[in-house]
Amino acid sequence: MCGIVAYLGPRDAVSVLIDGLKRLEYRGYDSAGVAFLNEGSLKVLKKEGRIAALEEQLNSHKWNSRIGIGHTRWATHGRPSDVNAHPHLDCSGKFAVVHNGIIENYGELKASLEKRGHHFVSETDTEVLAHLVEEAYQGDLCAAVRSVLRQVRGSYALAVLSEHEPGKIVAARKDSPLVLGVGKGEFFLASDIPALLPYTREVCLLGDGEVAEISGDGFRVLNGDGVFLTRKTFHVDWDQEAAERGGYPHFMLKEICEQPRALRETLGGRLTPDGARISFEKLGLRPEVLKSFQRIFIVACGTAYHAGLVGKYVLEKLARIPVEVDLASEFRYRNPILDQQTLVLVISQSGETADTLAALREARHRGCQVLAVTNVVGSSVAREADHVIYTWAGPEIAVASTKAYTTQLLVLYMIGLLFAEARETIEPEEAAAIVAHLKVLPEKVEMILEERELIRELADRYSCCKDVFFIGRGLDYAVALEGALKLKEISYIHAEAYAAGELKHGTLALIEKGVPVVALATQEELLEKMVSNIKEVKAREGVIISVCCGEKREVEEASDHLIRIPDVPSFVTPILSVVPLQLLAYYMAAARGCDIDKPRNLAKSVTVE
Ligand code: M6R
Repeated sequence: MCGIVAYLGPRDAVSVLIDGLKRLEYRGYDSAGVAFLNEGSLKVLKKEGRIAALEEQLNSHKWNSRIGIGHTRWATHGRPSDVNAHPHLDCSGKFAVVHNGIIENYGELKASLEKRGHHFVSETDTEVLAHLVEEAYQGDLCAAVRSVLRQVRGSYALAVLSEHEPGKIVAARKDSPLVLGVGKGEFFLASDIPALLPYTREVCLLGDGEVAEISGDGFRVLNGDGVFLTRKTFHVDWDQEAAERGGYPHFMLKEICEQPRALRETLGGRLTPDGARISFEKLGLRPEVLKSFQRIFIVACGTAYHAGLVGKYVLEKLARIPVEVDLASEFRYRNPILDQQTLVLVISQSGETADTLAALREARHRGCQVLAVTNVVGSSVAREADHVIYTWAGPEIAVASTKAYTTQLLVLYMIGLLFAEARETIEPEEAAAIVAHLKVLPEKVEMILEERELIRELADRYSCCKDVFFIGRGLDYAVALEGALKLKEISYIHAEAYAAGELKHGTLALIEKGVPVVALATQEELLEKMVSNIKEVKAREGVIISVCCGEKREVEEASDHLIRIPDVPSFVTPILSVVPLQLLAYYMAAARGCDIDKPRNLAKSVTVE
């Protein structure tokens, strides 16, 4: 949570900071602030609300600054307010700190600082850092920050600016992301790479526990013991356009529409030359290793967890290996039964989700091999896992995850095929047929997107409803869960998903005249049962919006509205059937005038527990 930026160089620092914060606003958006040196003196401006409010305040004055730090906040300690916004200052007002993460021992640190005469103005954990730096400072900002970090417990990405050393920024990270961008005679810090792309493509990733010092002379990186490290930059060739809205009203719609490309790129380059088999170059999991696993644990949060639920069906069906799926926040505290024959598969778009990262560490600590599926190169999850498979979805900016989900599903199908081949649970012809179906999915998604006007009409019609239910069986149930999450997180409509067969065990009591029920009916072998469940809802005067695959007369007859997705085998429908649900959520939220890309109370990357 929270976004950090910093700049040092010849440009107008305030403009660079504001621009960077806007690009990071998805990480948190309840307040924002900047600290910069204006003709040598430290200025701090911060404001509750969106970055636009801060920008307006800054625009009322002409600044002359070449160095500064900035922050966009998602509140953890202390409610959103001007005073709790970052940067935070020490008592002398000479040290400014921005921070993303949580200082776990801030209570005890604050109490002892107060005893020593420090005066606190905010309710945040971060403010202790500013006071600690003030105490530790003896003419070397970098040394002071390192000494402070030895006293704190928790997670942090931080940047410190001081009037005492006007040409320098000191930064550090542990368990929270921070990247350093290197331009010609200028340096940038940001919580993610896309925020740097308009300025530089040369990036240096800071490791856990490392401290960086940037100045007009260059940058240097030290480890916790003060040993200088050799750090090379690497070139990022992401398309900057991909990190911008490109004419779409919202990132979410843009990202929904990018799915055909994202799927093509995720599959492309991972096929054998004859196009019949999956092959992940550089993946260290050889067939004999794959064969040695007796069980798979899929661990993730939110949408990535829902992808994992589909993954369970896929892996169990293709490779006949038992799969358990767990929420990362539960996994880490429930002492799961793990051994060396268990593969732990973590899924995370951002690769920075605190619970997922903690689960990964727990699994490795228990001797398991960890395979990560992530979208962000160089993210913490990617760096700490034993093996990594990237989803090539490109930057996902909207808080609601869309293209990350479908590409995660695709990767899970590919992993299923790898396992199945290694475990000899699939005939080559059957595997080739599945690969052929995966290859045409991007075109099929395009077909659904072309029909999106129909979904918009439906969304407009039901946008005022209070509750929506999603039902499905088998793979459709896993997708229903994702559909309900999409709707509630961006439209604030109460939405719940149920295994259709469970309705009669309680939920049916909630169905009354006019309640919309989205019924996923794409699973051929479960169709009859699903039609019966649809009829149960109809009999209670619920409104049925069905999603089915190709022509299905029995579903059509039982439904009030029908969304048809292209005809594909039931086994691969999730990658298609979720798309109308994403669009439905998007258009319902749009009709209600919601802030779609930045829904209330949420943030894109959840880097706190
Ligand atoms: O970056 P991650 O995939 O680890 O994020 C996990 C969840 O926080 C994320 O999927 C969240 O549920 C989304 N807002 C859902 O759209």
